[in-house]
Amino acid sequence: MTETQIPAIDIGPYPAAAFAAGAVEQLPRLVRTIGARKTVLVSDRGLAATPLPEQAAQLLRQNGLAVEVFAEVHPNPTTEDVDAGGAFVRAAEAEAVISLGGGSALDAAKAIALAAVNDRPAAELTWSTEASAELAPALPIVAIPTTSGTGSECNDLGVITDPRQQRKCYLGGPACLARYALLDPVLTLSLPPRATAAAGIDCLTHAVESFLSARPNPWADGLDLQVVRLVAANLRRAVSVGDDLAARANLMLAAHTAGLAMRTTGLGVVHGIGHSLGGRFDLPHGQALALVFVECLRFNRAVREGRLARLAEPLGVADARKSAAHNADAAIEAVERLVAEVELAGRLREFGIGEGDLPDLAADTLADGVLANAPREVSAADVTGILRATW
Ligand SMILES: NC(=O)c1ccc[n+]([C@@H]2O[C@H](COP(=O)([O-])OP(=O)(O)OC[C@H]3O[C@@H](n4cnc5c(N)ncnc54)[C@H](O)[C@@H]3O)[C@@H](O)[C@H]2O)c1
Ligand SMILES: [Fe+2]
Repeated sequence: MTETQIPAIDIGPYPAAAFAAGAVEQLPRLVRTIGARKTVLVSDRGLAATPLPEQAAQLLRQNGLAVEVFAEVHPNPTTEDVDAGGAFVRAAEAEAVISLGGGSALDAAKAIALAAVNDRPAAELTWSTEASAELAPALPIVAIPTTSGTGSECNDLGVITDPRQQRKCYLGGPACLARYALLDPVLTLSLPPRATAAAGIDCLTHAVESFLSARPNPWADGLDLQVVRLVAANLRRAVSVGDDLAARANLMLAAHTAGLAMRTTGLGVVHGIGHSLGGRFDLPHGQALALVFVECLRFNRAVREGRLARLAEPLGVADARKSAAHNADAAIEAVERLVAEVELAGRLREFGIGEGDLPDLAADTLADGVLANAPREVSAADVTGILRATW
């Protein structure tokens, strides 16, 4: 699409979202609005070591609502997590699912809310309009992110690893969209520096890939540029001073905003490769993206120099007197510096990836539907080139 054409934009549906320090306290009221009395709170083992799941459960109990906690989700959640969670929710006879955690818990909860009412293996709960038409609608969901990265609370799909195929697949459907999202930056204060950095780079990648997408639109452009500005201004601070609530708040808003925008534009090759690295090597999502982000920007520069140049301003490195080529370079260098300063730079081979793994990674990347909106057609040779350059 050329930018002079009028884009078609489907804005929403999105969950009603409340953003505030202390927003989590609205949880009992929202569960009552849904009409549920029995709930299951889905979280992960890492979070179970923090007070957060129990605090949320206590809020519900103090308000006369029943809750059981399923905290068995793994980072890079699997179809096995979804099978176990679906059985748990069914046994609890829950009427609503509350997801509390990062993208892993939020993604798993969407598929679990669907599995609970469809007694089928998780691998059959594929995200597609046709598949959804045959399934009972998922239980209602209230999503409470505790990382600022994925924007998972904005969409209806769970990125779930199928261990048999060692690939990430998309599960869910329209009914898996959360009814409500509670965006409470206080909940992210305990996120360790490395996970904070990974989530922040995920958020930045969403905004940048959305901005460079094959089908950009002015609505998403505005959101994406603001997300880039917020991440550039706040990520270093949140990584180095974890209890800076203002920095945490800005990042949480950025992650949610990017999640809204990318639903209208899509992502691209950074996520294609990132999913294949996560599926085969269980790398944290943001770390996987960070390893290939800059090389993918260089690859896209051939068709997106003007848009890359426009990213220089929110990244804080624009020089209006200089050419688009200069500003595009400056933007790419600014991303490279940020990735290095939050200590996510590295080479694929440092993460257990062998040179012989590159062809499989390239094949998985090409099979990922996320490439549909990449600004430039991507061939196996292109992906292999990016992987080699970053290996
Ligand atoms: N649905 C989507 O649109 C979408 C978009 C991007 C990524 N994803 C998926 O999201 C997953 C990654 O999510 P993530 O980056 O949020 O990481 P995550 O959910 O895997 O969490 C990372 C780690 O941080 C811990 N943690 C989370 N919040 C914490 C807190 N407040 N305090 C202490 N520890 C905390 C978790 O226990 C976990 O060990 C991947 O599986 C990825 O594929 C989904
Ligand atoms: Fe992502």
